[in-house]
Amino acid sequence: MGAPIVPMQIQRRAVGPHDILIDVLYAGICHSDVHTVRGDWGVPAYPCVPGHEIVGRVVSVGEKVTKFTVGEIAGVGCMVDSCGTCENCLNDREQICLRGTTFTYNSPDKVSGGTTLGGYSEGVVVSERFAIRIPPGMDLASTAPILCAGITTFSPLRHWQVKPGQSIGVVGLGGLGHMAVKLAVAQRAEVTIFTTSPGKVADAKRLGAKRAVLWTDREALKPLANSLDMIISTVPYPFEVQPLLDTLALEGTLVNVGLGEPRGLNTFAMAFGRKRLAGSMIGGIAETQAVIDHCFAHGIAPDVEMITPDQINTAFDRVVDKDVRYRFVIDFASRKHAVASTPDAR
Ligand SMILES: NC(=O)c1ccc[n+]([C@@H]2O[C@H](COP(=O)([O-])OP(=O)(O)OC[C@H]3O[C@@H](n4cnc5c(N)ncnc54)[C@H](OP(=O)(O)O)[C@@H]3O)[C@@H](O)[C@H]2O)c1
Repeated sequence: MGAPIVPMQIQRRAVGPHDILIDVLYAGICHSDVHTVRGDWGVPAYPCVPGHEIVGRVVSVGEKVTKFTVGEIAGVGCMVDSCGTCENCLNDREQICLRGTTFTYNSPDKVSGGTTLGGYSEGVVVSERFAIRIPPGMDLASTAPILCAGITTFSPLRHWQVKPGQSIGVVGLGGLGHMAVKLAVAQRAEVTIFTTSPGKVADAKRLGAKRAVLWTDREALKPLANSLDMIISTVPYPFEVQPLLDTLALEGTLVNVGLGEPRGLNTFAMAFGRKRLAGSMIGGIAETQAVIDHCFAHGIAPDVEMITPDQINTAFDRVVDKDVRYRFVIDFASRKHAVASTPDAR
């Protein structure tokens, strides 16, 4: 645990009747990858191959596949299997399957009997049910982060029915946070960014937010007291939540999608404002398709910083240091094109 990421050989399962084999072109780096590899959530299964923001080309399809043909582009997000029959699965909430969702990596794999291995790899085999169609013409590198950062912020904005003119706060300007800002701005909401990084304040306007506040300065929060309809927090480590809850208006909701623990809840302050603290987990497959289609239709794309596979460990350090603007994407495509164009690669 905590060891650097190194190249290794892994075995994928054979392509089953409902499976597709995807030649991975791009894979985003989510803070969940860092949490997992560095043991923040316990000891991961070994080998651990992270990556749940995957975009690639379909190179093989099982005999019963109807959703994809060879040559098309497909995406895979955070999950690859669920029971398909529980109340949640039947209502497009496979991400919280009552019998246990199989996540894209570090999850018991009911099909192969091992552990799932994610998208920092040459190829993945996945059931077509869990693959997302990528509209032709979409920029592929910047599509990858929508499959986690995009859906995780789109889902609560939809669930809590954010409307034009509402005041929305976004805490943490990283991968999820900057997508929350872009999606909320596209809904014509008035967005306030809460950041701990002075260097990101200037980006607020470019991203379409109304303001950015350095919330390490508690005085700076005072003018916002009782004003916001909803807040999405993406903070990855334990944090003091009450100063943020104090900025919510009556009956406002703070949705904590970051997996850092909110601490220091003041029950009296919550009660007097009838305020709510909620959670949200990615989104279902239909909703993931919806966010991809929505981003394509409205020209919403993550800001990505491209890296090569040998830069993953440095990228992990930079994610922890809050030094990414705003999502690292591993470029497997250039290498493959380069190899494909050498004479001896045939
Ligand atoms: N619920 C879900 O379904 C779901 C899905 C995906 C990811 N996640 C979780 O969401 C979290 C964020 O993921 P991400 O990929 O967006 O991470 P990220 O790119 O690292 O962004 C997180 C941002 O939070 C702020 N931050 C970092 N450390 C902080 C600290 N100690 N105190 C206060 N603010 C801090 C930083 O923004 P500033 O510099 O602006 O302060 C940072 O850029 C992770 O915990 C991840 O595991 C949850």
